[in-house]
Amino acid sequence: MLMDTFGRQATDLRVSLTDRCNLRCTYCMPEEGLQWLGKSELLTDDEIVRLVALAVTRLGVREVRFTGGEPLLRPGLISLVQRCAALEPRPRLSLTTNGIGLERTAAALADAGLDRVNVSLDTLRPEVFQQLTRRKRHADVLGGLAAARAAGLDPVKVNTVLMPGLNDDEAPDLLAWAIEHSYELRFIEQMPLDAQHGWHRDGMITAGDVLASLRTRFELTEEGATARGASPAERWLVDGGPHRVGVIASVTRPFCRACDRTRLTADGQIRNCLFAREETDLRALLRSGASDEAVAERWREAMWGKKAGAGLDDPDFVQPERPMSAIGG
Ligand code: GTP
Ligand code: 5AD
Ligand code: SF4
Repeated sequence: MLMDTFGRQATDLRVSLTDRCNLRCTYCMPEEGLQWLGKSELLTDDEIVRLVALAVTRLGVREVRFTGGEPLLRPGLISLVQRCAALEPRPRLSLTTNGIGLERTAAALADAGLDRVNVSLDTLRPEVFQQLTRRKRHADVLGGLAAARAAGLDPVKVNTVLMPGLNDDEAPDLLAWAIEHSYELRFIEQMPLDAQHGWHRDGMITAGDVLASLRTRFELTEEGATARGASPAERWLVDGGPHRVGVIASVTRPFCRACDRTRLTADGQIRNCLFAREETDLRALLRSGASDEAVAERWREAMWGKKAGAGLDDPDFVQPERPMSAIGG
């Protein structure tokens, strides 16, 4: 088991498959991209499967989410999903993607054993999408979402970050659209994880702002705290249900006390928190010929050292060195 000193158990493993991305969201990375990891630095497919297998069989991990960068850019994704779905006990498998390429791959991913998908989409307006992501790919994302639903991935969640003056007037339209298509929409507070270190608390749309904006058009009823499960999203019933909307208030209402996550970066480092300042190098250990038990033990130690919370509100908060795209969202 992956326990920490605060009694939390990590059962949810997030695996970043690449630090690269085909979009350039302004709140994430600069136009020119970043200094990408080299091929030899990335874990191989076999190394990933070995670590996931060990997490599932020895460490109590029950859910595996593939992230990036953009995980669909990883050539072996479908076979990785297949190999992870064949593990005993079989973990639940999910994917967090920007949706580009999903139109082509959703059916194969579902066949391979992917259970569900979260797709990032910040706007319904193609011109705002282009301004925000610096790419003309809005239609690809919409196509990817439709393909995910058609492939039977369930639920299909949509992640939205609102930014002042750009898309913060779109919350009710986005919710109406999500309800029409049966996507589960979640609004995410922007976190200080951008490569440019441009985040300011005052420049962020809060969960409170989002709820106020939604209430101009919808009646929202809070679901009980238990309904949240392991998801960071607090959920609200829309107009009495059955549709729901979520807010992920990492900044104004952090959920660290219920955190059940452990993270593996594309270059084989364990992070016990999104905001951790330290990483534990499993890649070097793997490549030195260590046994499964030795690797598992190092992973347990890494999680035991997990801090109480991200500390976004601490006066001495320091943003992690690596940006979100390199850590895995
Ligand atoms: P579900 O289990 O489907 O609810 O997935 P998720 O919300 O955990 O995953 P997803 O990859 O869709 O992430 C949505 C948002 O939640 C992103 O902005 C993530 O960075 C944020 N998030 C995910 N895990 C953590 C975490 O451990 N801490 C914080 N603060 N935010 C997180
Ligand atoms: N803060 C909050 N969410 C972010 N995302 C990317 N960068 C940030 C940030 N700094 C979102 C993406 C995607 C999800 C995985 O994380 O928009 O929806
Ligand atoms: Fe890519 Fe996600 Fe960063 Fe946007 S937020 S540039 S989709 S990694």
